[in-house]
Amino acid sequence: MKEKDVILLAIESSCDDTSVAVTKGRELLSLATSSQTVHERYGGVIPEAASRAHLQNIVPTVSVALNDAGVRLSDLSAIAVTRGPGLMGSLLVGVSFAKGLAQGLNLPLIEVNHLQAHVMANFVTERGIEKAHPSFPFLCLLVSGGNSQIIIVHDEKHMELIGATIDDAAGEAMDKCAKVMGLPYPGGPQIDRRAKQGNDRAFDFARPKVPNLDYSFSGLKTSFLYTLRDALKVDADFVKHHETDLCASVQRAIVDILMDKFEKAVEMHPEVQDIALAGGVSANSALRERFERFAHEKELRCFIPPLKYTTDNAAMVAAAAWWKYERGEFCPLDAAPYARVEI
Ligand code: KG4
Repeated sequence: MKEKDVILLAIESSCDDTSVAVTKGRELLSLATSSQTVHERYGGVIPEAASRAHLQNIVPTVSVALNDAGVRLSDLSAIAVTRGPGLMGSLLVGVSFAKGLAQGLNLPLIEVNHLQAHVMANFVTERGIEKAHPSFPFLCLLVSGGNSQIIIVHDEKHMELIGATIDDAAGEAMDKCAKVMGLPYPGGPQIDRRAKQGNDRAFDFARPKVPNLDYSFSGLKTSFLYTLRDALKVDADFVKHHETDLCASVQRAIVDILMDKFEKAVEMHPEVQDIALAGGVSANSALRERFERFAHEKELRCFIPPLKYTTDNAAMVAAAAWWKYERGEFCPLDAAPYARVEI
């Protein structure tokens, strides 16, 4: 089959977004995503509620993606799905649905690692738009709600983890600090928005001392919490009075922590010419700015996917699956999802 004839239907259901993409060759034909609002009132994702919502959303989301692409089930070449890591109940919905579809249509099934898919968001190709992609090997800073990792991407299959968080992820730290301030979930975008009006030097929160290229955010979180606890004893409206400065300062601390290690990784890998961002936190405006400035200073090519491909989405799953289709790397129908795994 010619590359341009390969039509994939890709499904992502690892956390709280049900997302379906249809691609032809490497081009994205459609992307439909149902985001779950049920979690907002709890300030975090409730796994059982997420699984139930995926069950409600998956059939309509697949229909929308197929309709938008102008593709029928009989046109499909393969079904791709996120197998893990993620929430087990959420993954079970996507994987079971994908298996049923693959078996019913007699099509191959392609399994995708969610973290590799985030990296492959840098390869999503929009219809009719010529865009450069990173050249191998490149260094990727993958920052999401559940992961903070530095990855050397040797090729689309071989991704080597050279740094990772030993406790919270960057997004988790943002979300928790936002929660302490009484901001809605998810807190990352809330902090980003308010930080634009604040002084990022107003507060100096703790920076961790972790060896090698690993990250830690728990000390920062505790220092943020203690600053608020002490200040609230003196001024009950402390958060209200200092909201934008608190947001700007905690955001600066998180971006500093992320970039200090990433810059070290670039120094250690002089063979790398390209750097890329991935994951939901790469939507952060201060991080994007610092990442681009660093690339410019070091004369590296810099890749940051559009926002819609950095949060959980099926276009990145399709991008990761396309290479596997080309190589005939299919997945047996008795494969089970996995909640945890490295890249
Ligand atoms: O990759 P992602 O969509 O999914 C999970 O890992 O679940 O990342 C979600 C994370 C959340 O922690 C959210 O607060 C964060 O990405 N996020 C942001 C921004 N937009 C989303 N963090 C900082 N600034 C943003 N603009």
